[in-house]
Amino acid sequence: MTATVNGAAALVKNELSPLPPGRVPKHVAIIMDGNGRWAKQRGLPRTEGHRQGVENLRRILNASAREGVKILTIYAFSTENWSRPKVEVQMLMRLLEMFIDRELSSLHENGVQIRHIGEMDGVHPRMQKKIREACEFTKNNTRLILNVAFNYGGRKEILQAVKRIVREGIPEDQVTEDLISRYMYTGDLPDPDLIIRTSGELRVSNFLIWQGSYAEYYVTPTFWPDFDDAEFHKALEVYASRHRRFGQTDEQVHNPA
Ligand code: FPP
Repeated sequence: MTATVNGAAALVKNELSPLPPGRVPKHVAIIMDGNGRWAKQRGLPRTEGHRQGVENLRRILNASAREGVKILTIYAFSTENWSRPKVEVQMLMRLLEMFIDRELSSLHENGVQIRHIGEMDGVHPRMQKKIREACEFTKNNTRLILNVAFNYGGRKEILQAVKRIVREGIPEDQVTEDLISRYMYTGDLPDPDLIIRTSGELRVSNFLIWQGSYAEYYVTPTFWPDFDDAEFHKALEVYASRHRRFGQTDEQVHNPA
C-alpha cells in the first residue's frame, strides 16, 4: 500500500497485523547496536549514528506503548563503553542529557516511568542529578516503565547483589534464586520475556545476564537507527510464535500437572 504524506503514520500502523491476544511480551529489552556502522555506511561520523540512535529510541518507545509492552529496558551505556574514544564517550553523555532535557515532559505526559539501572560511581555529578530527578519526576507513571541501563554491566550487577546479601548477613538457607533476583537493579520487575539485539552480532555483551536466563532472543541484521516500528512489530510476532518451555517438555507445558 502506498502511504500518503498525511496518512503515512496511520497506514503503517494499520498495515501491522495484530498480535495474538495474550502473546505480547510484557518486558522487552533491547541492545541498540550498530549506530557506528550505520554512520560509516553513509560516510558520517560515528556520533551521527548515535544521534540517529536517539531519534529511533523515541520511535520505538512510542511503538512499545502502542503494542502494549509494559516494560522496556534499553542498553544505553555499558561499564565497558568508558574505554571508547573520549570524544565518543562525551557525545554519548551529552545525548543522554539532551534526551532527558528534551523528552522528559513528553515522556511524563505519556505515562512513562523512567528508571536507571547501573552504577552511579564514575558518572559526572551533574548527570547523576539529572538522572535522579528524571526518575523522581516520573516515578508514579504506570503506562510504561523505561529502564535505562546506563553505566551498566551484568557481572557488576550480580557482584553488587552478592556484596549486599553478605553485608546484610542473610543466612545461607535464605539465599534463593528469588532473593538474588530481588537484589538485582531490576529487583521488583519481572524478567525480560524478549531480548532484541540489532546489527546482527550474536553476543550477550554483559546485558541482563541473570534476568535473561529464560528470555527469548531475537537478533536482526538491521542497524539500530533503521530498526523501525515494522521491524519491532516483526520481533514481537516472532516472539508470539515461539513456544517457551522454561526447561520443560512441550507436553508438560501444554498439560501442566
Ligand atoms: C551501539 O552502537 C550503541 C551504543 C554503545 C550506545 C547506544 C546509545 C544510543 C542509541 C544513544 C544514547 C542513549 C540514550 C538513552 C539517549 P555501536 O556504537 O557499538 O555501533 P557499532 O557496533 O556499529 O560500532
